[in-house]
Amino acid sequence: MDIKKVFVLGAGIMGSGIAHLCAQQGLNVVLVDIDEGILKKSLAGIEGILNKKVAKGKMTEDAVKEMVGRIKISTDKNEAASCDFVIEAVTENINLKQKLFKELDEIVPDEIILATNTTACSISEVASVTKDPSRVVGMHFFNPAVVMKLVEIMPGLATKPEVAATTKEFVESLGKEPVVTAKEGIAGIASRVLAGMLNEAVWVLEEGIGTAADIDKAMKMGSNLPMGPLALIDMIGIDTHLAKTRNLYVKLGDARYRPCYLLEKMVHAGYLGRKAGKGFYDYTQDPPVPTVLK
Ligand SMILES: NC(=O)c1ccc[n+]([C@@H]2O[C@H](COP(=O)([O-])OP(=O)(O)OC[C@H]3O[C@@H](n4cnc5c(N)ncnc54)[C@H](O)[C@@H]3O)[C@@H](O)[C@H]2O)c1
Repeated sequence: MDIKKVFVLGAGIMGSGIAHLCAQQGLNVVLVDIDEGILKKSLAGIEGILNKKVAKGKMTEDAVKEMVGRIKISTDKNEAASCDFVIEAVTENINLKQKLFKELDEIVPDEIILATNTTACSISEVASVTKDPSRVVGMHFFNPAVVMKLVEIMPGLATKPEVAATTKEFVESLGKEPVVTAKEGIAGIASRVLAGMLNEAVWVLEEGIGTAADIDKAMKMGSNLPMGPLALIDMIGIDTHLAKTRNLYVKLGDARYRPCYLLEKMVHAGYLGRKAGKGFYDYTQDPPVPTVLK
């Protein structure tokens, strides 16, 4: 394994975090998005996080410059041709992912691994549009990617064992703990188990059993969670969470994952969570206050 330059496609919450992590580990990164504004915002966000470390005396300004200098932002997917590892982190949508994997398959040399950070799209389905599905693997970082220890590696049905093994080695080289799923299952382990709990929290809100603040308080204090489920969905992004839950519901045909219509209304209203400034909570207020959702 000789990975020095990583291609990250999608510069949203996850792509940005993954680029930050790779640069922090001394790798060069090409961060590509369709939206130039998001790319600039993402790089500024990474710089902002690092500057806070400078203010606390934990990092020098030169080190920040060097680290940020390792991230090249671009809107050109062809940059993937010169990279040693590809991680896709675009919007959770199977049609979009398949379109991009078809393109990447043409651009990226045959021996390079194509990883997807999808939460709940089928890895085999993403891989099915490529000439060689055996080089496609799920590589699921958690949010925020720099902080969270776990990365789940999710092989598809056709993924070569060597591809999963190299991805595992790469995860370890990033200072993260890998868990490799034994076989493909929608959303792997952590996200699937969590999905049931998050989904239930939205239904409890919808049924009027508790306010957002009380549901989060009950789960934090009653289950010893670091943050409440509704605040966590806001951090994930309402659209991403809805897409994940829908995939689980459709693929597994299990009513446990039936998404609450409230989530759809929130997406249509633009209440996408923290990234939009408003979700179950209104982040334009300090401290954030529960959003009125009726
Ligand atoms: N948010 C989370 O907590 C979380 C955690 C783990 C995994 N994931 C997964 O990571 C992926 C990304 O999620 P996110 O939360 O970063 O989403 P996001 O909405 O924050 O970012 C998605 C990005 O994809 C970009 N994009 C859309 N179409 C594109 C195209 N054609 N070419 C290039 N870029 C394009 C968008 O401009 C946007 O910047 C999803 O598959 C999601 O399920 C999310």
